[in-house]
Amino acid sequence: MIDTGPLDVISAGLAEVHRLLLPLTDGEVASYIPKLALADPQDFGLALVSMDGHRYQAGRSAVRFSIQSVSKPFVYALALAELGLDEMHRWVGNEPSGDAFNAISLERGTGRPANPMINAGAIATTNLVPAGSPEERFARVLDGLGAFAGRRLDVDEEVYLSESASGDRNRALAYLMHAAGSLRTEPRAAVETYFRQCAVRVDTVDLAVMAATLATGGVNPVTGRRVVPEPVAVQVLAVMATCGMYDAAGDWLVRVGLPAKSGVSGGLTAASPGRFGLACYSPPLDPTGSPVRAVAALREMSGRFGMHLM
Ligand code: DON
Repeated sequence: MIDTGPLDVISAGLAEVHRLLLPLTDGEVASYIPKLALADPQDFGLALVSMDGHRYQAGRSAVRFSIQSVSKPFVYALALAELGLDEMHRWVGNEPSGDAFNAISLERGTGRPANPMINAGAIATTNLVPAGSPEERFARVLDGLGAFAGRRLDVDEEVYLSESASGDRNRALAYLMHAAGSLRTEPRAAVETYFRQCAVRVDTVDLAVMAATLATGGVNPVTGRRVVPEPVAVQVLAVMATCGMYDAAGDWLVRVGLPAKSGVSGGLTAASPGRFGLACYSPPLDPTGSPVRAVAALREMSGRFGMHLM
């Protein structure tokens, strides 16, 4: 088992997977948010954080990038901790959509988005974080993401402005949900708060610490601080397992077998409950919007180290 072996075995395993997959050239760097197109396709970092807070890394794990959709499970956790599962479920479903991450998602009858991992559900979820104003809401989101990562995070303003200038599809999703009664706040500000959330800057180790915080049951293993109650961490991991990889979630669960979340800037985070958090950064994406090297790396590690939960 990777988390119980000697420390150098973990480091050597990460280094070997990195060496093996660096030559992969498949995939396209995202360009629908223009600023993301400037990423270096050769950037490739891996990180693993154990339950006692040890950080293992390989490759370019210190490169910073915008968190994008990898923020979604963590903001869902923050909202869930405030609202509880039943109230949360009134606004956002728990079902895999089987559709792309940017699909229109309005459940018949309720107008709810299918789940909090797709864009529609994430826009609704962010705006369920209780606050008196959009500014206060974003401050709470930023603080919460920082608590998961174990350090104060900031926003890549250029990525934020780039997405805000090109984000009409998300704006449309927000207006549709508002019209259907499933978005609680005013759509224009709601979507800007979500764009700022997506532009929060992290590195690969941050993402591994964040996943490790869910894997421990809500306590950040580096800072020792409880970020969310244990039942919330468990519920979030369950939604990541069923919905985190969008329309590839089923194949992911079969082949890798861990709750995970990917993002269009090239980040991916995965949690092995009670064992470790794992993360990867590599900008070229597959057609579902997940990083090609990260998907390959997690498959490789799952097979090599017996990580599959089932
Ligand atoms: O809303 C968007 O389209 C982006 N800010 C985030 C999408 C994303 O990361 C999808 N993940 N693979």
